Amino acid sequence: MKSLILVIFLFLAKSVIADDSACLKCHLAHGDQSSETTQHIDTSLINMSVHKKLYCIDCHDIDPAEQHAFRTDVDCGSCHEEVLNIYKESIHGVALANGIKESPGCTDCHGGHNIISHFNPESKVYSTNVPKTCSECHTSERVVGKFGLKADRIATFKESFHGIGNELGEASVANCASCHGVHNIFPQSNPKSLIHNDNIEATCGACHVDLPPDFAHGTIHTSASEETSGGKFFVRKFYYFFISIIIIGFILYRILEYKRRVKRVE
Ligand code: HEC
Ligand code: HEC
Ligand code: HEC
Ligand code: HEC
Ligand code: HEC
Ligand code: HEC
Ligand code: HEC
Repeated sequence: MKSLILVIFLFLAKSVIADDSACLKCHLAHGDQSSETTQHIDTSLINMSVHKKLYCIDCHDIDPAEQHAFRTDVDCGSCHEEVLNIYKESIHGVALANGIKESPGCTDCHGGHNIISHFNPESKVYSTNVPKTCSECHTSERVVGKFGLKADRIATFKESFHGIGNELGEASVANCASCHGVHNIFPQSNPKSLIHNDNIEATCGACHVDLPPDFAHGTIHTSASEETSGGKFFVRKFYYFFISIIIIGFILYRILEYKRRVKRVE
């Protein structure tokens, strides 16, 4: 009974204060109280987003009657608790909690007012857009250098079979998150990591059935331009050599043929 009264009270309270117009009279460019210093928002982004039914105060804990010049952190976890609990344990979540600002929070990967379903090809986290979203940090010198991360992850992915498929818009091939996890990303040495030695077969096996033994255990991020990549490196070397010989041979052939023709005309 008590909780029913509370729910009714909250509902009434919400319908009194939860009217976006109180915020929009300042935060819309043509709002009657807007000034040059107010940040104007584009409400069409929210209206096209998954959150179109929410009120401003569901995300911004702000009383419109009070001055509030400072940015307030939006607590996405108040509604997405399950995701938050997984994320909190991940390398990104732990790093952010430890004050590492370069580590992604929810909005770095998802956006703010413009969040759309991850099944929508326009989404920052749609399968074929994931590599770009991760690369905002994992190719950035500012982040890679500072944390001693490997800088070649995106380049090597793009060279791979999956990377080429991804670039061609193939949503079924593996993207970064298919192998590393989404909200549960850990370093390979952590037993919870999807690429940990004990888990990698299951990770690849999610898409590749009847794997031959050791299929999953090779290195993934290899580049044909590094000798440590073994076969891939030597095949490429041979290929360059072979193609060069063919091109030189072809040019030589044309020159000789030309000379012969000139001779014949004389
Ligand atoms: C009387 C006008 C006024 C009203 C009403 C108002 N705001 Fe603001 N708001 C401002 C001003 C001025 C600032 C500081 C300048 C700025 O936008 O950075 C601000 C700042 C903000 C910021 C931080 C912007 C930043 O720089 O990160 C957010 C978020 C915000 N308001 C949301 C709201 C919400 C949500 C409501 C309704 C509950 C609301 N405001 C109602 C005038 C107003
Ligand atoms: C789903 C949650 C959500 C809702 C609903 C929402 N906001 Fe925001 N808002 C955010 C987040 C997250 C940011 C910060 C964006 C970022 O860091 O990229 C933000 C940023 C802002 C800013 C700072 C300027 C900017 O564009 O970055 C203002 C002002 C603002 N919101 C006002 C509003 C108003 C007014 C409403 C209601 C019409 C509203 N917001 C509804 C999540 C929300
Ligand atoms: C490192 C990037 C990244 C961060 C940080 C991140 N997400 Fe995600 N999120 C993704 C990707 C990628 C998907 C798409 C998953 C898929 O395709 O199955 C996703 C999917 C989702 C979904 C829909 C699917 C589901 O599992 O319910 C929700 C809701 C979500 N994220 C909320 C959040 C919240 C809340 C936070 C912060 C606590 C957050 N995300 C942080 C990348 C991220
Ligand atoms: C007041 C509750 C609330 C808050 C706060 C909130 N969300 Fe949501 N969010 C929802 C609801 C409800 C849905 C489902 C909408 C639907 O299914 O149509 C949703 C959907 C989503 C989805 C789409 C899931 C999918 O299938 O792809 C993502 C991503 C997401 N939210 C991320 C965030 C992020 C990031 C924040 C913080 C900036 C946030 N949400 C804040 C309630 C909330
Ligand atoms: C906003 C920047 C940012 C984005 C976006 C981002 N990361 Fe990260 N990532 C980091 C930082 C910073 C670290 C290092 C944290 C630490 O060492 O404490 C990290 C660490 C990692 C690690 C562990 C690296 C190691 O050597 O142990 C993996 C794996 C990882 N990220 C994968 C991803 C994937 C996959 C995506 C996209 C879904 C992604 N990240 C998106 C900033 C980012
Ligand atoms: C097919 C699975 C797969 C895909 C797709 C993939 N990775 Fe990896 N990733 C791995 C494996 C396995 C390792 C361990 C080292 C190796 O094999 O090269 C790794 C290592 C890493 C590391 C170092 C982490 C550590 O713990 O040492 C980072 C960072 C990383 N990948 C980021 C990415 C990013 C960003 C993308 C997308 C552009 C991506 N990966 C795509 C499987 C994958
Ligand atoms: C999200 C699903 C998915 C995951 C996870 C995945 N792959 Fe793939 N992979 C594909 C698809 C789809 C193709 C393209 C198959 C085709 O066109 O025949 C492919 C192609 C390949 C190919 C080249 C073609 C072939 O079948 O020989 C190799 C090698 C490969 N994957 C290895 C791996 C390894 C190793 C892992 C785990 C580290 C992995 N994949 C994880 C979906 C995935």
